[in-house]
Amino acid sequence: MKIRLDRWMTALGLCSRSEAKNLIRKGTVRVNGKNVSNPADAVETEQDTLLFQGNPVDGRLFRHVMLNKPAGILTAARDPKQPTVMELLPPVYASIGCMPVGRLDKDTTGLLILTCDGEMNHRLLSPARHVDKVYEARVTGRLTEKEVLAFAEGLDLHEFTARPALLEIGRAEEGDSLARVTVSEGKFHQVKRMFAATGHEVLMLHRSRFGPLTLDPALSEGGWRELTEQELGALRAAAGM
Ligand code: URA
Repeated sequence: MKIRLDRWMTALGLCSRSEAKNLIRKGTVRVNGKNVSNPADAVETEQDTLLFQGNPVDGRLFRHVMLNKPAGILTAARDPKQPTVMELLPPVYASIGCMPVGRLDKDTTGLLILTCDGEMNHRLLSPARHVDKVYEARVTGRLTEKEVLAFAEGLDLHEFTARPALLEIGRAEEGDSLARVTVSEGKFHQVKRMFAATGHEVLMLHRSRFGPLTLDPALSEGGWRELTEQELGALRAAAGM
């Protein structure tokens, strides 16, 4: 993205716009190895290199992250009282406008994508696009073929009927059951409500897949990494871009 140098520094959260202008004029900033003195100089944010007060800075404004969300953390950009997923990332991600793609409940763990690409974010969540999400669940009671059929038919959740979903039962016992659920929409508390509609309470919910992306098993809870080029390409394709 082509923008003014002073705006670039502000977008990266390095300093305020007026501080950026002063620092550039004082000669404390280098772009592509050269001293610069004009705050209005145009830069290419994804390509140009930035040296700020002697330190190299990663200047990319378009970043995309895979996070293994732990329980007890809100999926929100900010919250006055409770910790949010943004606090698991270095502050620059909030400065450049990285946002969660959809939300996981506070007690849900697993794969959360965060991106600075608002258009891709919007498209991935569009109800028209039906991006698959896969959840591993532990629920109360014994799951049977009856629930598999109910999920496949599309459950009546009062204000809407859920789209057909795939329920694969792992272990089924009287006390509790393990299952994998694939849904193609993302309404509020969707999976919990689907199980509740069939008489089961969700005891644990973990998202293992979002569209074409699978949670990297190398990421421990709270761990994150940037998407690879290949993953980003697959995600953009899922978004129809
Ligand atoms: N469905 C839910 O009920 N909760 C989540 O966090 C995600 C999907």
